[in-house]
Amino acid sequence: MTDLLKNFEGVIQPGSREARLISQLDSERIPKHVAIIMDGNGRWARQRDLPRVEGHRAGIESVKAAVEFSARLEIANLTLYAFSAENWKRPAEEVNTLWKLLRTYLRRELSTLKKHGIQFSAIGRISELPEHVQEELRVAERETIDNTRMHLIIALNYSGRLELVDAFNRIRQEGSPYPIGEEDIARTLYTAGLPDPDLLIRTSGEMRVSNFLLWQIAYSEIYVSEVLWPDFRGREFLEAIMAYQKR
Ligand code: IPE
Ligand code: IPE
Ligand code: MG
Repeated sequence: MTDLLKNFEGVIQPGSREARLISQLDSERIPKHVAIIMDGNGRWARQRDLPRVEGHRAGIESVKAAVEFSARLEIANLTLYAFSAENWKRPAEEVNTLWKLLRTYLRRELSTLKKHGIQFSAIGRISELPEHVQEELRVAERETIDNTRMHLIIALNYSGRLELVDAFNRIRQEGSPYPIGEEDIARTLYTAGLPDPDLLIRTSGEMRVSNFLLWQIAYSEIYVSEVLWPDFRGREFLEAIMAYQKR
């Protein structure tokens, strides 16, 4: 049994609410895969009379917190829904800012990911992304491919239905003999090799799956937080893990 609190030494104040939550967690029942629908950036900005992109900028800080807390809690896989295939319908300026923020995030955080042994991958229809984004993703994937402490997966231009379409087309292209089995689908999904999420978190109170990991969440526990994504930091993350362990 690991002493999780030890992993937070120097990061969390002894006696704080976070420290209490961590000491209450059962280190034997940490989820192996947490998936998050990061929602509510626009509302967060609107509440402050700021442009929507400021919500996305603040949301990056929550991404960093989720990655850091996952690594310290020894969660092996973290998948973040950052851009859905439907999100192209947003104003071009907002979409372009999202790609810029992603690039900045990758450039600034790559050394941190490497230092902490975190593998990075992107899932979704990546070949449809702007070339400069694809290049940045390739660099991050290549430079972290041997890391084994944790796996950070970012879903970009992602759609659960299109993922299934792509999987079926791959199976068909392979000319695999019929009948197709569950294992054929699982191995051709973007998430091949990853365990299914144990816990799916959605922020900002919406009770929708929004086309995320449709196949993989068949048995996932679902936790909806009222907190908007830019306000979802370590404490809220710990509360979600705690709620999961109480089920
Ligand atoms: C989620 O926040 C971030 C992305 C989809 C990129 P939203 O931008 O959907 O924020 P709301 O839902 O409008 O508040
Ligand atoms: C879901 O949020 C997609 C991401 C978090 C990337 P949206 O705000 O795009 O989804 P809907 O419109 O509420 O379903
Ligand atoms: Mg939204």
